Amino acid sequence: MTSGDGLGRSLRLARAFRYEQSEPERFYRALAEDSVTQVSHHADLAGAWVLDVGGGPGWFHAAFTLAGARYCVVERDRREAADRRPGANPPTVVADGSALPVRHGAFDVCFSSNVLEHVPRPWRFLDELVSAVRGGGIVFCAFTNWLSPWGGHETSPWHLLGGERAARRYEQRYGRPPKNRIGRSLFPVHVGEVLRWAQANPTVDLVDAWPRYYPKWCRRVVSVPGLRELATWNLAIVLRRR
Ligand SMILES: C[S@@+](CC[C@H](N)C(=O)[O-])C[C@H]1O[C@@H](n2cnc3c(N)ncnc32)[C@H](O)[C@@H]1O
Repeated sequence: MTSGDGLGRSLRLARAFRYEQSEPERFYRALAEDSVTQVSHHADLAGAWVLDVGGGPGWFHAAFTLAGARYCVVERDRREAADRRPGANPPTVVADGSALPVRHGAFDVCFSSNVLEHVPRPWRFLDELVSAVRGGGIVFCAFTNWLSPWGGHETSPWHLLGGERAARRYEQRYGRPPKNRIGRSLFPVHVGEVLRWAQANPTVDLVDAWPRYYPKWCRRVVSVPGLRELATWNLAIVLRRR
């Protein structure tokens, strides 16, 4: 189990990222265990109903279940949802997270990891995550921000010069188009605008915001405008529904 909030944890996660393509189970096990630890700092997961929006085949199923949660997935892509993996077979609904087919307030925790940057209307998506949880329930949402070194995903940092140019360059180099296409399946989202959206939203309290993969002592970077856009890498926020 990945634990602690120090440099050792960040290095373990960085090592796990090396296996994202070659051994996705290994990568996702590390990310899921770490994410569940982070969520458990804000919510009692024993017996909690957890909705994972954009959860693919249920990469986080085993880790949430081990923590005692009852875990379900909403996933937009039928092929992703059908890509069953050992130990992952959660109840899944194929649907768009921007129009969640769940009763308002039905969940204790709504979790969404690395999906916000893939939706064209982020505020609509976030509103839906909030509406899925009961009063007192929490939303955990983490995403890669646009000016992060990984903001353009596999086309980084060329995304900063334009999506089409970045895609062309990627294709010339690797002989295949990138999976993530800017303006189609990857969109700019900024740290500051997400924090301002949360602070202005009368239905939630912004409980926490931190650079998801960094040691605890790097947390203050999120409060420095400008720097936070370049240095956060991946922002995690926790909202509590009023
Ligand atoms: C980069 S993957 C993230 C998977 C996993 N949550 C993680 O943390 O690694 C993005 C996932 O979100 C899904 N997705 C994208 N837009 C979505 C939407 N509007 N509603 C639900 N799922 C969506 C994609 O199909 C994909 O499975």
